[in-house]
Amino acid sequence: LMTQVCIIGAGPAGLLLGHLLRAEGVDCVVLERRTPDYVLSRIRAGVLERVTVELMERLGLDQRLKAEGLAHDGFNLADGERLIRIDMQELVGQHVVVYGQTELTRDLMDAREERGLEVIYETEDVTLHDVESDSPHVTYVKDGKEHRVDARFIVGCDGFYGPSRKAIPASVGQEFERAYPFGWLGILADVPPCNHELIYANHARGFALASQRSSTRSRYYVDVPLTDKVEDWSDDRLWDELAARLGPEAAAHMTRGPALEKSIAPLRSFVFAPMRHGSLMLCGDSAHIVPPTGAKGLNLAASDVHYAADALIRFFQKNDNDAVSAYSDTALSRVWKSERFSWSLTKLMHRFPEDGDFERKMQVAELDYIASSRAAQTSIAENYVGLPV
Ligand code: FAD
Ligand code: DHB
Repeated sequence: LMTQVCIIGAGPAGLLLGHLLRAEGVDCVVLERRTPDYVLSRIRAGVLERVTVELMERLGLDQRLKAEGLAHDGFNLADGERLIRIDMQELVGQHVVVYGQTELTRDLMDAREERGLEVIYETEDVTLHDVESDSPHVTYVKDGKEHRVDARFIVGCDGFYGPSRKAIPASVGQEFERAYPFGWLGILADVPPCNHELIYANHARGFALASQRSSTRSRYYVDVPLTDKVEDWSDDRLWDELAARLGPEAAAHMTRGPALEKSIAPLRSFVFAPMRHGSLMLCGDSAHIVPPTGAKGLNLAASDVHYAADALIRFFQKNDNDAVSAYSDTALSRVWKSERFSWSLTKLMHRFPEDGDFERKMQVAELDYIASSRAAQTSIAENYVGLPV
């Protein structure tokens, strides 16, 4: 098989990139290790920035997002009994949209046939070859047979554990990493949300987040030690813990229900640089991970794809290599700012086991400062709605 761009991974990054390239007449094929149902079963992000919404608009695939997505003008930081509301609309004139990663992925999947986007599912042993040359190729096994895709570019959209990043030699790449001593235990349930906007809480018992997918579906998280297992957390124990950490006001409005899904995700900050080596570009989680506190993971994948699509379209339509050459620097400059925001909000809202009284006083002082300063709130709002691309 010959194509212009071989995309590895059909998560949100790979599907978005594939559709953007097809819309401009660039040939591509997407290789995905899992089945479509498996990809849709992963419950992940829920908050979309403008960059992500605008890509769906540009593709004309935003009908359901427009109809079902919930525009949120503000969100809340809880400190004990107090709620600090960050009014994004008033402070920076923008909002975010609550719409699940699963729904976004489904919309992109459903449009494959109509838009002529070829995705090959259940590919095993995906291997990258000759990425330093102008004629790289990818091999994979499907139904027991080995296949080969020749392309001008390979784009790695294969998440943190995929093969693409590892195809860049250690001598040219650098990893920056920070691990956190806890994970987030998430629960999805068909119950109305406890509050019309999100609440991020820093409680003596630990972190909690009240989020939602719709007026009838809620998503909640608490932080737990990395040694905890999902089986340690019955639904009742988790609802009790959420009620305690979110505080009496939220608890009074919380409806409990059986878990549709329950899982633990470790928290990590990670950046790999450069994000391009020869004919291989990386987008999304394949190049970087943020702790989920700022709701940035999916949106950062979308902004990478925005830069990568524009660079590849310029390359194939105008024979102009400049944006491809600049891709890594362009993407990383936005990546590092999102890394900084996610790290700082994580530090502000979690109780770290190693922290003493001094660090706790610093958290209280920072929350007091945010509560009393429009400038501080504006900075948080500007980052939360998403920095410009
Ligand atoms: P992915 O969604 O990981 O997609 C990568 C795709 O590549 C997958 O479909 C995978 O099957 C495929 N792939 C992997 N290896 C291969 C291979 N060898 N061959 C072929 N295909 C391969 N962000 C938030 O903002 N809020 C959250 O609450 C949140 N929760 C998360 C929970 C978990 C458990 C994880 C892992 C992430 C979470 N994130 C969250 C982050 C967000 O979901 C990711 O940033 C986003 O999915 C990145 O999209 P992506 O397309 O880059 O990667
Ligand atoms: C959700 C996840 C996040 O990491 C976040 O910051 C906000 C919302 C969610 O899954 O709804």
